[in-house]
Amino acid sequence: EKGGYEHFMLKEIMEQPHSVADAMRGRVHPQEGQIRLGGLQKVLPQLVEAERIVICACGTSWHAGLAGEYLIEALARVPVEVEYASEFRYRNPVLTERDVVIVISQSGETADTLAAVRQAQGAGCLAVGLVNAVGSTIARETDAGVYLHAGPEIGVASTKAFTAQVAVLAQIALLLGAERGVLSQDEVRRHAEALAAIPAQIQTVLDGEEQIRRMARDYRYASNFLYLGRGANFPVALEGALKLKEISYIHAEGYPAAEMKHGPIALIDQFMPVVFIATRDATYEKVVSNIEEVAARGGTVIAITDEGNRDLDALAEYVVEVPKTIDALEPLLTVIPLQLLSYHIAVMRGADVDQPRNLAKSVTVE
Ligand code: F6R
Repeated sequence: EKGGYEHFMLKEIMEQPHSVADAMRGRVHPQEGQIRLGGLQKVLPQLVEAERIVICACGTSWHAGLAGEYLIEALARVPVEVEYASEFRYRNPVLTERDVVIVISQSGETADTLAAVRQAQGAGCLAVGLVNAVGSTIARETDAGVYLHAGPEIGVASTKAFTAQVAVLAQIALLLGAERGVLSQDEVRRHAEALAAIPAQIQTVLDGEEQIRRMARDYRYASNFLYLGRGANFPVALEGALKLKEISYIHAEGYPAAEMKHGPIALIDQFMPVVFIATRDATYEKVVSNIEEVAARGGTVIAITDEGNRDLDALAEYVVEVPKTIDALEPLLTVIPLQLLSYHIAVMRGADVDQPRNLAKSVTVE
């Protein structure tokens, strides 16, 4: 059942070239420059006319929502807000019928996320679900939705659900961008091609597992980690930190890289690895300055960057390369080494990777 792997988590990490392809099957049509999402067909006019999209979720699904904010704002120019479902519910949020609420949930049973669906519907909003578990409560109660088709996720730490969520959010962003006339047919085609290339690119990252294992061996005794990224990679920093905390029990924080100098920089010393997601995108130069600041203070830098970038060799102890894609799709590749890093560190520390202490796969209490 674990497909020859020692843990479900590793199996699910390794499955991602397939699960992401499944999340796009029959939906992404690069030749025609088209995205077709059957589950949204009947509500498409309402979605296209939305004045604002509010995304609600918890945990890793909330991180996917943040990546979705970046995607939808960049590609479709619709204002997006991302809310913790638990906060949304109790804050008496200001909603109008022109708002669309998108909830994201792997299990489809998370109590706070379900409550957000009901809150949205109570305010007259369209509630759209991005759910993995077929027939789950959230899938049934939302007005329309897109299944992730990632296959069952058994490991408590969410991995393949995250990449499927981001892949579906990218499709929604492209669909809205096309329908709203923000993207030309040619731009849709170019983005759809980039999306279609992602599964093979994920495989390339997975093939580099040995380097990540070496890294895990070097840093397994650290008591604190800092993860920094900007733009589309800020949610990846949060997700990298969450993965490490929940299965390795190592304290880790994710921050937008530029926030480092507003506090966390005080923590820098040789004992705390700082993982930078530093791909050559719009904010790359700024992130490099942050890397230099950490290196100058004797900090230990691990850099995730894109293929062939040698700029960081002198500054980082490890440079992990991922294939080049368009900026907004980077989370689909940059998260992979961070999933593997947390997995290997947890195994080396003797932790129960698939059943971390105090955690349940679906949180059905508020
Ligand atoms: C982290 C993790 C949790 C879930 C969160 C939401 O690895 O698994 O943070 O992401 O509990 O769960 P779903 O997506 O089922 O609503």
